[in-house]
Amino acid sequence: MVTRPSFFITTPIYYVNAVPHIGHAYSGLACDVLARFKRLDGFDMHFLTGTDEHGQKVETAARQCNIETRAYCDQVSKNFQDLARAMKFSNDDFIRTTQERHYKGCQALWRVLDQAGQIYQNSYSGWYSVSDEAYYDAEEISDDGKGSKIAPTGSRVAWIEEPSYFFRLSNWQQPLLDFYAENPDFVQPESRHNEVLRFVESGLQDLSISRTKFSWGIPVPDDPDHVMYVWVDALTNYITALGYPDTSDARFQKFWPADVHVIGKEILRFHAVYWPAMLMAAKLELPRRVYAHGLLMRDGRKMSKSIGNVVTAQEMIQRIGLDALRYFLMREVPFGQDGTYSDQTMYNRLNSDLANDLGNLCQRTLSIVAKHCAAQVPTPSVLTPEDEVLLKRAAALPATVRELMDAMAYHRALSSVMAVASEANRYINAMAPWVLRKTDPERMATVLYVIMETLRQIALILQPFMPDAMARMLDQLAVPSDQRAFVDFAKPLVTGNPLPSPSPVFPRLTPPE
Ligand code: MSP
Repeated sequence: MVTRPSFFITTPIYYVNAVPHIGHAYSGLACDVLARFKRLDGFDMHFLTGTDEHGQKVETAARQCNIETRAYCDQVSKNFQDLARAMKFSNDDFIRTTQERHYKGCQALWRVLDQAGQIYQNSYSGWYSVSDEAYYDAEEISDDGKGSKIAPTGSRVAWIEEPSYFFRLSNWQQPLLDFYAENPDFVQPESRHNEVLRFVESGLQDLSISRTKFSWGIPVPDDPDHVMYVWVDALTNYITALGYPDTSDARFQKFWPADVHVIGKEILRFHAVYWPAMLMAAKLELPRRVYAHGLLMRDGRKMSKSIGNVVTAQEMIQRIGLDALRYFLMREVPFGQDGTYSDQTMYNRLNSDLANDLGNLCQRTLSIVAKHCAAQVPTPSVLTPEDEVLLKRAAALPATVRELMDAMAYHRALSSVMAVASEANRYINAMAPWVLRKTDPERMATVLYVIMETLRQIALILQPFMPDAMARMLDQLAVPSDQRAFVDFAKPLVTGNPLPSPSPVFPRLTPPE
């Protein structure tokens, strides 16, 4: 039996103390599109997402809601599971850091690091606010003018010390630099790679990895006064979900190391520095790639609950439909850069690309076929050079798009597909099949066939981006559902196949008043 190549992709795990918005859907969507693409391209895929549920903020939030912390987590983790469903993410697993499998794996990793001499006890000190139950960085602290230091929340802070375990991150500076030098594509985009390099070159300090001031966390093995502090707990999800510490687990064997951790740029350091150092220290393989994308902003400002400009995915799906939302998020912003969302750019983009270029082309073509070709796939006769040019451009799509997807250049992948749709629009206008109907019906049939073939290939390659709309388009082209994988690119439409009556795939969207 031939074994299929495998591919493991992960999203960050989301903090449960936030209400999910469209920014949270963004990393998941990027992963989902690549996961669907790889599946259609014959890979054995594993797509992991989940929720990050420990820490003081969660403990405090649960107390404020007057519910037990675990019950609170169940409730809010569900918001992210609902988001994944609403966005039609095809994740193979959803890990929660409060699950038994994660506790076991985390504690096992801690023990391995400890036995390797990578953990020691010391004390952690910092500016602490009793009312916020949180530490603040020195640059966040200011004077209140009355001799006290205050946090950005306005609450008083005091310099305190507590015992803490530390990970010997400082040991790993040179091994990390060697690793980056040998793997220049490890951190992407390139600007992020340089950022990481500069950070590590400037020197690494040991990392505080436990706390005694709260208890909602994974207990440190053999020291119940301490719970693990965020990053050891959170990052480890990528391997505990595969069965770690059982490295003989079939999932671990097949899928570790991850092919790519997709993250937002604000958590780059943790993934590109701390995580590889922990894995090296535990003698585990390192992920192949960390891709840091930019942040989505609304009308030029960061989306946040306090500014009141948060948009939820569910809201957008209701307004414009899921496929249009998925298309817009992947097309509008060059992946890796920050992007700003505004209603105006969104409606313009969707109407021009989807309703006009693609939807209209499909509807126009299939309506003529329905009326004048007996609602069957038309039979082409001799192909002219113009026909050949368009068909060649469509046939080149898989190779072009595959390369762009491997580079996670989603916006370029989509623009290269849409360029073929524009070409097909120019072609139909130049060939004018509605005129040929009277002058040369045979030529009309050929032209319509050429456009339908082009549409078939466009729809196949766009499936990962717009799964439902492209399924409808392929249905209308009478492409059997078992012939929609990328190996099927080479199987042209069967002439004479009966076609269902056409209906618009992308209605024109009217922006709100
Ligand atoms: N729990 C940590 C991650 C641990 S991973 C081992 C965390 N969670 S988070 O919920 O605050 O953010 C998770 C991710 O959501 C970010 O990395 C980013 O990918 C995504 N985004 C949250 N807001 C976003 C935008 N406004 N725009 C784009 N992505 C955003 O950090």
